[in-house]
Amino acid sequence: MSDVNRFLEGSFAPVTEEVTAYGLPVTGRIPAGLSGRYLRNGPNPLGLDDPNYHWFVGSGMVHGVRLRDGTAEWYRNRWVRSKAVAAAHDQPWPGGPVHENQDFAANTHVIGHAGRTLAVVEAGALPYELSYELDTIGPCDFGGTLPGGFAAHTKLDRATGELHAIAYFWAWDHVQHVVVDAAGKVTRTTDIPVADGPMMHDFALTATYVVLLDLPVTFSLDAVTARKELPYVWNPGHQARVGLLPRDGSGGVRWIEIDPCWVFHTLNAYDDDSGKIVLDLCQYNQSFDVSTLWAAHGPVTLDRWVIDPAAGTVTQRRLDDRGQEFPRVDDRVISRPHRYGYSAVIGEFIRAITAAGDFTDDAFTNAILRHDLAAGTTQVREFGRDATVGEAVFAPSSPDAGEDDGYVMAFVHNPERGAADLVILAAQDFTGEPVAAIHLPVRVPLGFHGSWIPDK
Ligand SMILES: [Fe+2]
Repeated sequence: MSDVNRFLEGSFAPVTEEVTAYGLPVTGRIPAGLSGRYLRNGPNPLGLDDPNYHWFVGSGMVHGVRLRDGTAEWYRNRWVRSKAVAAAHDQPWPGGPVHENQDFAANTHVIGHAGRTLAVVEAGALPYELSYELDTIGPCDFGGTLPGGFAAHTKLDRATGELHAIAYFWAWDHVQHVVVDAAGKVTRTTDIPVADGPMMHDFALTATYVVLLDLPVTFSLDAVTARKELPYVWNPGHQARVGLLPRDGSGGVRWIEIDPCWVFHTLNAYDDDSGKIVLDLCQYNQSFDVSTLWAAHGPVTLDRWVIDPAAGTVTQRRLDDRGQEFPRVDDRVISRPHRYGYSAVIGEFIRAITAAGDFTDDAFTNAILRHDLAAGTTQVREFGRDATVGEAVFAPSSPDAGEDDGYVMAFVHNPERGAADLVILAAQDFTGEPVAAIHLPVRVPLGFHGSWIPDK
């Protein structure tokens, strides 16, 4: 496998067709209570001819499975119709607002909010709104209420109905906290001054704070000049720090300096009883030059940071030292105390991006993990050699079910069929037989993030 094309080959290789399939075959039984769509976004470049292709910049393609009454009604995959993607399909661009000429087929996450299905991405571009069947409606600036670009990662606080995001853009001297209300309108933005144009891929939310990660991966004009596909590099001169922005608007950000590190993803955060903030995340413990993803980077581990606003300190401890990424909680506990977390061990991904990408047992390279952070235990659900698994998403068994009472679902590559299964596990029987495996007719390339979007 060539290093240059690693993200165009194997499990990363894009698919070339948009497919619609009805009445998917199932092994096991789909829980009748699961009515809605499991959607997942990811990069799917239109061609294979770019030797400098960077995984983060492929045009977004959303894969979706619609469940109803114990059946898998359909599978669809659709490119997000940016101007470029529409042109490549000889179709008219649907039209709509564009921020600072940053039109892009949002490739990083897909969420449901206020009745909209949104493909989202960071670094200046707007979300694209999709129909229930994943056709592109057009760019979305929340009815003209969003002043700039949006973000790949958002946090919905179930208690308030507010969707929070941190938007960043290389040409800004700040990042922007955005609050979208339950009706889908931006009700508040707060500009937060930052130096050097840092990448802020994710953040965290508690009941009282927005928690920002200002880390030393920053925009680089030199990288632009060098024609790097992604102009964000490790910047040792940029002080790493954690920021606490009060959610009630009662003041500016309190910054606390930390040692340099890199974080793509938080699991969750919450306020504890002593006025501290507990923040769980996947941390890269060495430098991380995002512009060259396939260079050797340090190990990535699941860590807990306890932030003490009074003392101005962040204390860190390791929760699990297995290489893992794509941490998720039961979305209903976002910003509140969580006990459980789910993450993915994706061998091809970990191998591609970390120096420590060796596994003692190859069978373990495709697994999802269920962490019980109160008991301090982790269950490992392995899928076997070549059965590449992606991010795992939790779906509650009913709206009022307790945390972890429900299902964990993920696309898993089935090497015997050469196609993907949507595997549904009972969270509380994590290592038992899957509740259901829904057999898709095609491959689903390794991608980024997704959501279970229940029908209302
Ligand atoms: Fe992400």
